[in-house]
Amino acid sequence: MLESSLEFLRCVKCGAKLELDTFSFGKEIQEGLLECKKCKLEFPIIQKIPILWDDFSKYLSSRRILGGKLYKLTHSAKLKSFVKKSLTSKDNDRTNLEEKWAIVYQNSRISKFYSTIKKNLDSLPSSKFVLEHGCSIGIMTSHLANSCDHVFGIDRSFSAIQIAKKQFKPNLDYFVADSLSPVFGKLQFDLVLALNVLEIIEPQVLLKLISKQITKGYFTISDPYDFDRGHASVKNPIDASSLRTNLKNLGFKVSNSTKKPSFIPWNLKLNPRTSINYKVDLVIAQKS
Ligand SMILES: C[S@@+](CC[C@H](N)C(=O)[O-])C[C@H]1O[C@@H](n2cnc3c(N)ncnc32)[C@H](O)[C@@H]1O
Ligand SMILES: [Zn+2]
Repeated sequence: MLESSLEFLRCVKCGAKLELDTFSFGKEIQEGLLECKKCKLEFPIIQKIPILWDDFSKYLSSRRILGGKLYKLTHSAKLKSFVKKSLTSKDNDRTNLEEKWAIVYQNSRISKFYSTIKKNLDSLPSSKFVLEHGCSIGIMTSHLANSCDHVFGIDRSFSAIQIAKKQFKPNLDYFVADSLSPVFGKLQFDLVLALNVLEIIEPQVLLKLISKQITKGYFTISDPYDFDRGHASVKNPIDASSLRTNLKNLGFKVSNSTKKPSFIPWNLKLNPRTSINYKVDLVIAQKS
């Protein structure tokens, strides 16, 4: 974590500012604890990655394998005991799934989808504050850091953020966090991205939250609308038309070039013999 990110972070439970206890650092904070003095919650920073979850035990309860790995990866005694005491119950483990998908995204970086989105983003004015929800391995976040002032990415997958963090840029930082939690308090962004996350993060709730993060600025959103995911499906799916209506109702103007639904190829290479070929819709909306 960049030390400079501290001023923008808030406790995801009570919204208070966080204090930083650093155990080791180089160019960035390598290991440490972020502490909320108000509600006493603590958030670990492991391998430069802050995990901003309101209940770290719960985060690890569905990622026990990750818990073991984090325990091994930590060096300071205080952090080791923090991870250890958070390793309690067990649910279905997400670690392998998240590791697998992080590798899929890494192997799928060269897709028409990413070059098309980059081209669209490059045509927007340069932004001061940028946030990407569900940034995964940071393909877009990292690209935006070449032209914008402060760029942040959040994702619930530690494995994905671990890959994203391999690339250092002094104005780019990543956090393991739930998009629906108030990681940045009331901070306003000039550009927010939510690419291909609507099947996983309840769409209406996410749109409302992002609308509150933008007073004046751009919102870039894409999706293949692949909502049929059995018990893991979101409650209220959305389609190309209701997405645009929702955005208008929230005070956004949809750009002329994305008024009509698009079908941008997004090729995900699952393994050498299997790919998913989505056709993704893109909307660029603006509040001015
Ligand atoms: C389908 S992937 C899309 C990744 C990337 N945006 C892209 O288009 O290449 C969805 C991402 O959202 C993340 N995610 C899912 N639910 C989340 C949540 N509640 N908060 C933050 N990230 C979440 C997943 O870990 C995953 O990396
Ligand atoms: Zn707090």
